[in-house]
Amino acid sequence: MTARHALLADDPRYAEMFDVARETLAAGGEVYEDLTPRMVALARQAPVMEGSIAELLGLPAERHQIFEVQRPHYTLWSFAACDRALRENEVFSSAVYRESPGVRRMGENILSMTGARHRAYRGIVQPKFIRPVVASLWRPRWIQGAVDALLDNLHGRERADLNLELCARLPVHVVSEGIGIGGERALDFRYHLLRATVLARNLSPEEIGRSFAVVRTMLQELIDARRAEPTDDVMSALVTGSLELPGEDARPLTDEEIVAFCLLVMTAGGGTTWRQLGITLVALLSDYRLWEACREDRSLVEAAVEESARWMPTDPTFPRLVMEDVEVEGMRIPAGCRVDMCLATANRDPSRWDHPDVYDPFRPRQSHLGFGMGPHRCLGMEVAKMEMVLAINGLLERFPHMTLDPDAPPPRLLGGLHQRGYSAVPVRFNA
Ligand code: HEM
Repeated sequence: MTARHALLADDPRYAEMFDVARETLAAGGEVYEDLTPRMVALARQAPVMEGSIAELLGLPAERHQIFEVQRPHYTLWSFAACDRALRENEVFSSAVYRESPGVRRMGENILSMTGARHRAYRGIVQPKFIRPVVASLWRPRWIQGAVDALLDNLHGRERADLNLELCARLPVHVVSEGIGIGGERALDFRYHLLRATVLARNLSPEEIGRSFAVVRTMLQELIDARRAEPTDDVMSALVTGSLELPGEDARPLTDEEIVAFCLLVMTAGGGTTWRQLGITLVALLSDYRLWEACREDRSLVEAAVEESARWMPTDPTFPRLVMEDVEVEGMRIPAGCRVDMCLATANRDPSRWDHPDVYDPFRPRQSHLGFGMGPHRCLGMEVAKMEMVLAINGLLERFPHMTLDPDAPPPRLLGGLHQRGYSAVPVRFNA
């Protein structure tokens, strides 16, 4: 099968994997309609509260337990509180992820590291993810061709579900190809990766082991190939990079370290962009003047994407472990507690944005937390933005009069506390 065939294949695993409700349940969460209004109502009462976000929302807390260690909880709602916790990573530590079996199954990776160790590991691949490299390498090599193939495939059709035919397929292929896994194996890789890690809850140890072996073998073959002959992909940066930890001699990464890194990037880069692209498309098509404005002025598309990550970030909450007694916005939080940072409400803080609940690509641009902030700010954010901008521009170009399909049920925002999005984005092309 060629990469193009795999991208367009009528494979039932796309429907199985790219369904927000199914994904949330498989990860052990509960599925809800949009929780944003309830989160915002709480956030308007106080910037920080005692209790986990699940408890404060009145949801059954045990169903949202992705950590095996029980700890007292606080929830940070405001922009100032979340921004500080994201930046002060030694006090509000990412080591919290080590208490999650789903993350631990990937092996130790940058998500749970802090300080100099985090900088050293992340520094090896950071140059592959900066904006100019995304424009000069990722765009022509891995993104534009995939967008064109997916949209060519819709030519002549009257209607389509863009969730399955565009939003789901594009990021899986882009991230796989960017790492170096050929597009023809991208779906296989993601399918087994999710079964081996974050969606392993309902599987037997044998099934998890089998999926892990598939993923491990594919990566080992790639590591060996790139060690023999490096190219310009991410795997080549990993095998040729030099790790400089404080007080230690510089050395190459081990195979295990490379595998752990790849598992994180492939997990983080597939699901998020899928859901955020759907969120952006539904937002633009739901207020048709915005779709028309983007059509008239393409420079607005980038702002439309950025504003969607502010207004409705697909991952609304992230955790941290408090390492020392600290006071946040007037609330004392003891060492050893876990905090839930609610990026969804931080991004709607009325002290920072006028009419924060409105999706408005015309608003003055200022930094938001949809991609995080500080040392762990999303490594792949420029890749994600480029994918979304090129996909939306491609749609505007080819289907300028596209609307949400009036004959289909309106898209419903579903998800849990950790991810949310649309499982169907039904459109009519109105050629
Ligand atoms: C719209 C799409 C995306 C959103 C909303 C998003 C959001 C985020 C957020 C909020 C974080 C911070 C997590 C924390 O501080 O605990 C993060 C980290 C990360 N993201 Fe993304 N992400 C997206 C796409 C991607 C893509 C496409 C990739 C890879 C190609 C990627 C790779 C990563 C990695 C590796 C980290 C960990 C960085 C670190 O710990 O230093 N993400 N992302």
